[in-house]
Amino acid sequence: MAEILAIYPGSFDPITNGHLDLIERGSRLFDRLIVAVLTNLDKDPLFTVAERVEMLQEVAHGIPHVSVDTFSGLLVDYAGEKRAQVILRGIRAFTDYEYELQMALMNRKLEPELETVFLMPALSYTYVSSRLVREIFQHGGSVKDLVPPLVEERLHQKVFQSKP
Ligand code: PNS
Repeated sequence: MAEILAIYPGSFDPITNGHLDLIERGSRLFDRLIVAVLTNLDKDPLFTVAERVEMLQEVAHGIPHVSVDTFSGLLVDYAGEKRAQVILRGIRAFTDYEYELQMALMNRKLEPELETVFLMPALSYTYVSSRLVREIFQHGGSVKDLVPPLVEERLHQKVFQSKP
């Protein structure tokens, strides 16, 4: 049987324990998993693409057959270049469903051969998002248990050391 290559795309600004949980689950399911950071974000990111890639590489180090890459433009085009068969996405709660369904169906319209596979993270991460992590941290709250220790350290450097 052909090897299954999956792409886990996202902004990862920054990677959370929920993302990491999904990467671990994906690595067990697929022969290869590429975690792909979108470079042309509309949003104003907290971390640069290089910083996000570096954090992902550190945090995913040691998880079998996982690599980290970047992409721009359409996800289906990137998946085609890599010859991936699967897009991996996480669904945390009902509120994610509408957006994810729309994206999955649009990607299917653009590339019918590419399947989107949804996985649920561990229950304890269902409320964790990068946006909330950034917000909590910027207002002095604790993000312990929400992100890997390395990310907590990088958030500290980013938020406090950039203040005059
Ligand atoms: O972590 P995010 O921000 O929810 O990830 C969204 C992402 C990167 C998966 C999505 O915005 C995307 O695939 N962007 C690439 C452009 C594209 O293909 N758009 C059409 C999607 S239907």
